[in-house]
Amino acid sequence: MCGIVGYVGKKDAYPILINGLKRLEYRGYDSAGVAIWGPDGLNVQKCKGRVSDLEAHVSGRSMAGTTGIGHTRWATHGEPNDVNAHPHVSNKGDLALIHNGIIENYAPLKEELMSRGHVFYSDTDTEVLVHLIDDIQRTEGTDLAESVRLALGNVVGAYAIVVMDEKYPDMLVAARKSSPLVIGIGEDGDHFLASDATPIVEHTRNVVYMEDGEIAIIDREHGLRVRNIKNQETRPSIQALEIQLEALEKGGYEHFMLKEIYEQPRSIRDSMRGRLNLAQSDIVLGGIKDHEQRIVNAKRILIVACGTSWHAGMVGEYLFEEYARIPVEVEYASEFRYRNPVITEDDIVIAISQSGETADTLAAIELAKGRGATIIGICNVVGSSIARMTHAGSYTHAGPEIGVASTKAFTAQVTLLTLMALMIGRRKGTIDGAKFQQLLLELDSIPAKVEKVLKTEAQVKYIAGIYKDARNALYLGRGYSFPVALEGALKLKEISYIHAEGYPAAEMKHGPIALIDEEMPVFVIATQGASYEKVVSNIQEVKARKGKVIAIVTEGDTIVKEIADHTIEIPASPDAFVPLLAVVPLQLLSYHVAVMRGCNVDQPRNLAKSVTVE
Ligand code: G6P
Repeated sequence: MCGIVGYVGKKDAYPILINGLKRLEYRGYDSAGVAIWGPDGLNVQKCKGRVSDLEAHVSGRSMAGTTGIGHTRWATHGEPNDVNAHPHVSNKGDLALIHNGIIENYAPLKEELMSRGHVFYSDTDTEVLVHLIDDIQRTEGTDLAESVRLALGNVVGAYAIVVMDEKYPDMLVAARKSSPLVIGIGEDGDHFLASDATPIVEHTRNVVYMEDGEIAIIDREHGLRVRNIKNQETRPSIQALEIQLEALEKGGYEHFMLKEIYEQPRSIRDSMRGRLNLAQSDIVLGGIKDHEQRIVNAKRILIVACGTSWHAGMVGEYLFEEYARIPVEVEYASEFRYRNPVITEDDIVIAISQSGETADTLAAIELAKGRGATIIGICNVVGSSIARMTHAGSYTHAGPEIGVASTKAFTAQVTLLTLMALMIGRRKGTIDGAKFQQLLLELDSIPAKVEKVLKTEAQVKYIAGIYKDARNALYLGRGYSFPVALEGALKLKEISYIHAEGYPAAEMKHGPIALIDEEMPVFVIATQGASYEKVVSNIQEVKARKGKVIAIVTEGDTIVKEIADHTIEIPASPDAFVPLLAVVPLQLLSYHVAVMRGCNVDQPRNLAKSVTVE
């Protein structure tokens, strides 16, 4: 996740900025940069790599100056390289800007600005902002803060930005919408800015959390001034930070995994941002646009992945078959690559990988590519090997995932597969306009519903306390919920070391039923939908053998409540979107069981976040 720091005061800005960037390293990033208002105007230095690479890059240069900004970038648009790193500058080099978030309408803005003579150098969405502010300053003659305000009026998306201008010495202008920004008020006129409080706490504990739509102007002469969206000056509310640094890095959560579980409403929203267009009843996936027709005409889709990404692929199978009527095969990349699979030039291969570096998935892509298939990637890490190797693809935009057990990457992958399947179905005509619009509305409501599901945490924790000492667990689901059962079982295995199996509910009677006794917790996804009655029968079968049933049900359910030992309610939604909701309590359950068992949640034994060996 990108990180922002800024400083205005009487001290040397550079060491403050560099230390601040180091404090933000825990967020994950791929490049770093700073801009300092120095004796010769704006001094901008940036490069791909770690903050230490940036330090090496600037060594020997003068970095004097008492006002500056710094950034760590986690790529979303354009691969990690020196040019795409922030700050971005205007063509005259007199404006410098750093940005967290995504500018959804950057493409039309860029086109318009290019037609007006602006020259772009990077592939980022961010660069349009600096040109837009520059353009407004020149055409409207407005000051920096007002130009920023006017520019943001043209922008659709999420942002936290900080801008500096050579014409306004010792001034920073910052603004936010849906992306956090904190201002620290130090002694002796010192002001600090950051995307979270971690770089600030060592300087001051007095902070102002900026609100959406606010613009902050910080300068040496007047200190901090804040304006709201209507351009009225507001009085900033200063709070005293009491939280410790370590807790701050995890956003106040005890572990990265829990933080990432809680990030899902945002990460799912970010995966849809600029792609799901309710007003025009459309889905646009820019990264695969040129290959859309090929997918529409595909006779078959092969999905290759490993681990949790493979489970997302299984949800993809149900989605593509139901909505786009294209046959799908989901393959473990490791099996696929060694069994001489039948692949033709008409095949579409979708490779799913959070890291974009998984060795087996890479090898599977190489094989399919060699046989002429079109390869579409779904990756979280921009510029990763898989992203570079595929013909086209879409990034999940979940932000860096640090907990080894994948959570937000899974829901982002499922979101992307949902967008793809619905889009292809609409283009093919296998979904009609009215149904499509209804599905888009439902999909758009998912982040708010996930928010609601997260409120079950206390109840889930209570259930975790009851079953934390179990030696085995069974997870059952049908249809779209079968992959969720697999993922639920994997989460429990990975971090709590309890043996767990996911099964299609009806298959239970062909084997696992023999395991059921009063000791065995059975987690069942039993939401109302196509196979509800059948799943209710499966629950009866478990209860008849004295198994303990913990069921995930639709809000208001009464039937399962009567028979199950515990029920966890999730909001109603079409079957196809249930995985995005039902997986959340299962993630929380595994998390709490692991914590109660004293396991290392974020770094479970024997597991790696990125498996770059076969
Ligand atoms: C490892 C990780 C899993 C992940 C799998 C595939 O096993 O621990 O969380 O699902 O690799 O990784 P990928 O980066 O390709 O999604």
